[in-house]
Amino acid sequence: MSEKLTHIAIFASGAGSNAHQIIRHFTGSAKAKISLIVCNKPGAGILQIAEKEHIPTLLIEKELFFQGDAYVPELQKKGIDLIILAGFLWKIPPALIRAYPDRIVNIHPALLPKYGGKGMYGRHVHQAVIENKEAVSGISIHFVDELYDNGAVIFQASCPVLEGDTPESLAKRVQELEHAHFPKVIEGLL
Ligand code: GRF
Repeated sequence: MSEKLTHIAIFASGAGSNAHQIIRHFTGSAKAKISLIVCNKPGAGILQIAEKEHIPTLLIEKELFFQGDAYVPELQKKGIDLIILAGFLWKIPPALIRAYPDRIVNIHPALLPKYGGKGMYGRHVHQAVIENKEAVSGISIHFVDELYDNGAVIFQASCPVLEGDTPESLAKRVQELEHAHFPKVIEGLL
């Protein structure tokens, strides 16, 4: 029986290092294809990566995303089956969640349910982890529902928080975990 190719859209707002790992992982794959990069920030690093990798991009506008149709018809028209959030900083509107039930996946740079929610992104997460003298941190990959960082957890991996860690040094350790695991976890979902 031939497998159907899963068309993935990656949503990203920033540098796109996770998106890049995912793109590399699925290059030449018979299971999945990164068919679209969705970005809300003109000039974001992810857009250069997309150009270099010859992946179509969609630059989205706030008004249409939140008050319009959340780009659902556009994503459906492009045949998108699965949405991966890799450093995407806008909340996903209900219309998009309804259109892709259990098919929107996010990565968070901490061990949820701790250190999640509004305002908990990037440096803020690692700063809070260090301030609270946690011994471990890590990554959480989870389905997206209507609340920030709230959906069912699919996978977690942990790393130590070391004496003298700064948000930057901890971020680097956590990012290594993200790059090592995120593409494989996505593959496991297909
Ligand atoms: C990652 O740490 C991810 O956990 C968070 O945003 C960051 C994105 O980094 N949601 P990058 O753009 O993939 O380099």
